[in-house]
Amino acid sequence: MALSTGLLRRLRPFAAGALTLALLVLVGCTTNEATYPQTTLAPKSDFTRLVDDLFQTTFFWAVIVFVLVEGALLFAMWKFRGRPTDAEPEQVHGNVALEIVWTAVPAIILALIAVPTVRTIFQTSVSPENPEIEIEVIGHQWWWEYRYPALGVVTANEMHVPVGKTVSLKMWSNDVLHSWWSPQLAAKRDVFPIGPRFQKINPLWFKADETGDFSGQCAEFCGIQHARMGLRVIVQTEEEFDAWVAQQRLGSPLVDGGQVPPPDTTGAAPVPGIPGLPAEDAPVVVAGRQAFQAAGCMACHAMVGTPLAGQVALMGPNLSHFGSRRTLGANMYENTDENLAAWLRDPQGMKVGSRMVLPRELTEDEIRALVAYLRAHQ
Ligand code: CUA
Repeated sequence: MALSTGLLRRLRPFAAGALTLALLVLVGCTTNEATYPQTTLAPKSDFTRLVDDLFQTTFFWAVIVFVLVEGALLFAMWKFRGRPTDAEPEQVHGNVALEIVWTAVPAIILALIAVPTVRTIFQTSVSPENPEIEIEVIGHQWWWEYRYPALGVVTANEMHVPVGKTVSLKMWSNDVLHSWWSPQLAAKRDVFPIGPRFQKINPLWFKADETGDFSGQCAEFCGIQHARMGLRVIVQTEEEFDAWVAQQRLGSPLVDGGQVPPPDTTGAAPVPGIPGLPAEDAPVVVAGRQAFQAAGCMACHAMVGTPLAGQVALMGPNLSHFGSRRTLGANMYENTDENLAAWLRDPQGMKVGSRMVLPRELTEDEIRALVAYLRAHQ
């Protein structure tokens, strides 16, 4: 037996430590999207597959280098281990052949990695040539504004896109640096505040492979609510997406200056199966609008049917179709009546530091009226 039982016993704590460390490292590598929806290891678009291919290539070379170098090291440690009785080994200085090899081989490997890396950088940093959907992404403290100029849609935090279509994003910020990131669909991309002297509008693109909800996150520190500046990309079939667009266009400031469309005399919804906007004189709208104006919501929010309906967005999101959104508070809470009422009661309790500050406490009657009013605007 080359290894004595004494040696094995001494190695045991090291083996246990190494195993624990390996397990900890490996749990970070899961591709389980249900548990970790923001994994970068389960690409769901052409864009993220480009990035993933590059990662796999680099990882492959890194593993080969690691195994060879560590293997040689362990072999040398074992083969040339010393004993107290050993004579002093032969002293040498330098080995030209060896030095040439260990300089040339890494240089060749780095060159092999550089080619796909540079190619991917160029592929992913330009705007696509023939985008099928164009969306403007505007970062705000602490929410995302989305405009679809060609489709006449204005919305917030939840981006709807059709599956299998190339989406082109043009991105900037309204205040400080943010970074838009939906890990399964596209890489991180910084959004810069633009002004008269600085006009850096960043492009990004992706074509989603499959339908579903993909969550994302602001990835550039932007203030107290940075970590909770979430986002969601809702990838739909073309029919679902078209129906969503038709619904969002109703009363949009980009379509008809925010005017409520004339009442539908046929009694049918404007898009089959999709609710339109409630009538201007419906009791829920009359009571809600009154509360909306009395509570000062208009200071920060554009809303169809109010004097600021023609504004795309003010300090806060445009609320004209708030009822159709799945979340509130930038993907932080499900958009339920309970959460919405809690938000209206105490926005700072739901998201400390949020820009939503109430001029006064709302009454429970006002909160009830506002929840019904916002919910009715699908
Ligand atoms: Cu926006 Cu961090």
